[in-house]
Amino acid sequence: MYQKIKIKLALMLPLMIGISKAQTFIPIPDTLSGSIIDLMIADSSKQFYNGYNTNTIGYNGNYLGPTIILNKGQNVTLNVNNKLRNTTTTHWHGLHVAPMNDGSPHNPITSGTKWSPSFTVMDYAATYWYHPHLHGKTMEQVLLGAAGLIIVRDSNEKALTLPRTYGVDDFPLVLQWKTFDAATKQILINDELDNTTMVNGIMNGQLNVPAQMVRFRLLNGSSHRFFYLAMNDSRNFKVIAGDESLLNAPVTVNKLLISPGERYEIIIDFSGQTGNNYYLRHIGTKLPAGYPGGPPDAMGMGTPGPLDNTDFNLLQFNVIAPTASPVTAIPSSLIANVITPSAGAGTKTFNLQGSPMMSMTNFTINGVQFDKNVINFTTKQDSVMIWSITNQSMMPHPWHIHGNYFYITSIDGSTPPAYMQGRKDVVTVSPQGGTVQLVMKYEDFNDPNIPYMYHCHILSHEDNGMMGQFIVNPVSTGINDVNANLFSVIYPNPTYNGWTIDGTSKENLLLISLTNSIGHVVLQQTILPVAGKFNFNVPANELTAGMYMLSLISKSQNQTVKLIKQ
Ligand code: C2O
Ligand code: CU
Ligand code: CU
Repeated sequence: MYQKIKIKLALMLPLMIGISKAQTFIPIPDTLSGSIIDLMIADSSKQFYNGYNTNTIGYNGNYLGPTIILNKGQNVTLNVNNKLRNTTTTHWHGLHVAPMNDGSPHNPITSGTKWSPSFTVMDYAATYWYHPHLHGKTMEQVLLGAAGLIIVRDSNEKALTLPRTYGVDDFPLVLQWKTFDAATKQILINDELDNTTMVNGIMNGQLNVPAQMVRFRLLNGSSHRFFYLAMNDSRNFKVIAGDESLLNAPVTVNKLLISPGERYEIIIDFSGQTGNNYYLRHIGTKLPAGYPGGPPDAMGMGTPGPLDNTDFNLLQFNVIAPTASPVTAIPSSLIANVITPSAGAGTKTFNLQGSPMMSMTNFTINGVQFDKNVINFTTKQDSVMIWSITNQSMMPHPWHIHGNYFYITSIDGSTPPAYMQGRKDVVTVSPQGGTVQLVMKYEDFNDPNIPYMYHCHILSHEDNGMMGQFIVNPVSTGINDVNANLFSVIYPNPTYNGWTIDGTSKENLLLISLTNSIGHVVLQQTILPVAGKFNFNVPANELTAGMYMLSLISKSQNQTVKLIKQ
């Protein structure tokens, strides 16, 4: 009898503590917008637990960073000041930018310096994010708090009746797993034993939401674990956007799996529910077997964390009075996604393997680990490629590619679920033979020197070398035919300092003409090919940033190409 009571008390104790603990309201990150965005990344500290100072890293603050709001078509300069003691990079995850502006391991920002990429925003309305990407240090810097959201707006999205008042009926939710050490409450640079989850940097937080349609922009900003989300009353909600675009139509679900690096926008209807409380939950017991955070697979393989394979509340919603003009219904169709046509596309296969086979920490892509000095493949601007990925390891891997969006054409041989049918940049390849096919076009940018990355977005896997890189070479601007009178390639595009033109011509005189976006000729010069070959540099340091047209004119042929000066 005595034993029984003791057990009961022990079971109740954590529950009681959970109830009596005052719940903190989650912060909604400040926003930054306009053509110049200033970010400062710095070492800092924050009290996650009363009385304990935890070392952190933040952008413009002590944990996470401001939400950057961009409009499609605008020009933006992002100044990143590195006040850390260490080198970092800032990657604009999902944005379609040139390799030199991407913030990959090839764009390091050393301590005490500033990096200022500037580019035109070309992406569709959706939720993107930024985070460090220094090879071998990505997990550490992200775990300590360096990450923020980017919201891109565009005219197609603005034309739809959707909730979009930031912090009122449109909330960013950065979901993260984390390990705190018991004694000093420091964040451990390790993701195997995650013992905490947070929303916008707050554990067991709460949020007031109006009694109407409310939009949430979800990011799984964890190093390792998946989230499987559901409401405590198992209600339906609607997914309206994936990583890089709105969907064709809202998709009704009552649970949603979100991998590290992935984003979804959802709409939850709180109409008529003023005064009630609900919870966003993680249903770890329902995760597919073998997924980090979920139940072990048939062979007993799974993650060993204390919260794995459990269900718990992530965030409490307090429903308050509706706003003055609430969105009470959302459109039944959103945008028209057009899957990249794959006619004439090349195919590349990628095999993901554990090394050794049963490893849960050490993974290879096509048998090799990342080497900064090795380019894993090259392709050409404007070409299309089908990526065919097979996972031969015991763990799922959320696969991410830089440089452009992709469309998923199949998962394990079937059409992907409707909520994955928009533009994506992360897709999970399931363990033990899972396959994914996707189609991607290398548009707008080339750089023969700086590669784009692809990798698993489990940050410990990425840091350990589950990453590769590819070069997008310039498109040939001429008729790619030995009989052509003129053949040339122009690179890099975009550029800061100038373009190189390499080519062959059967004529002995060529004219180069560069015009700016309002049609003014800014440079004109003749080229005299030697033995049918020419090589010419077009200086650009004096040009203002923007779009230019470069024409190469011979007696028998004309070529014009669109170039961008940063
Ligand atoms: Cu979000 Cu290459 O990363
Ligand atoms: Cu990325
Ligand atoms: Cu992985």
